[in-house]
Amino acid sequence: SGGQPVSMQNLREVKALADHYGIPVCFDSARFAENAYFIRMREKGYADKTIKEIVKEMYTYADMTTMSAKKDGIVNMGGFIAMNSEEIFRKATVFNIMFEGYITYGGMPGRDMNALAVGLLESTEFDYLETRIKQVEYLGDRLIEFGIPLQRPIGGHAVFIDASKFLPKVPREQYIAWVLTIELYLEAGIRGVEIGTLLADRDPETRENRYPALEMIRLAIPRRVYTNNHMDVIAVAMKNLWDRRDKIATGYRITYEAPIMRHFTVEMEKI
Ligand SMILES: Cc1ncc(COP(=O)(O)O)c(C=O)c1O
Repeated sequence: SGGQPVSMQNLREVKALADHYGIPVCFDSARFAENAYFIRMREKGYADKTIKEIVKEMYTYADMTTMSAKKDGIVNMGGFIAMNSEEIFRKATVFNIMFEGYITYGGMPGRDMNALAVGLLESTEFDYLETRIKQVEYLGDRLIEFGIPLQRPIGGHAVFIDASKFLPKVPREQYIAWVLTIELYLEAGIRGVEIGTLLADRDPETRENRYPALEMIRLAIPRRVYTNNHMDVIAVAMKNLWDRRDKIATGYRITYEAPIMRHFTVEMEKI
């Protein structure tokens, strides 16, 4: 979604529709707090509510959730699942014990669970969220000043750069956005992630590459790690690439790819 939020109204309407058809609603909660921040800032009726109040309302529209806690849980690793159906809980318990650990900890050490409890409290503090999201916006604004094509408005956790507009000479069969991530790494040691043809993977039936409408690179910013000076370094590195973009006309071919989720382990060579 490019770090774009889901409005409360949207959550409400999805829940009503799903209830109508008897389908449970599952939230991906990875960025639940950043989502609540945007609801507070943008949606009528929420400006005076606390983030925690907004989050509580959000979850009245969910039947279950998955949480990758290394995002808005502000922990180094871990997560959880939650649901309001006893039946699904029983089924999930079997798999949880088989693959993760007992239901009370699911593979997480107690120390990490304590950290997660603190992380959830802190990530729902308005001041924390504002500082974090404004830092991402700061990076986006610097890139916009340099004329770099990106998705707007700027997302909550990342800036998404439009690689097709950045590198129009690279054929899409040579993985445009992947080329940009490599160039950025070579330029300044900065790691972005391709959100384009490689990630879109192959059609499971025809095994042909799927070409999404957008070739993007995501510059996701870790929480509480960098200063705005670091953002300046990223922006200037992108500008250096932007200034020499005309010289980048070829990309890469795949030399190894896994049968599924090739994005993580692909090996490539330069054309
Ligand atoms: C919204 C969202 N959900 C889930 C994940 C994946 O989480 P994990 O790495 O814990 O599998 C990501 C990763 O970026 C994400 O952005």
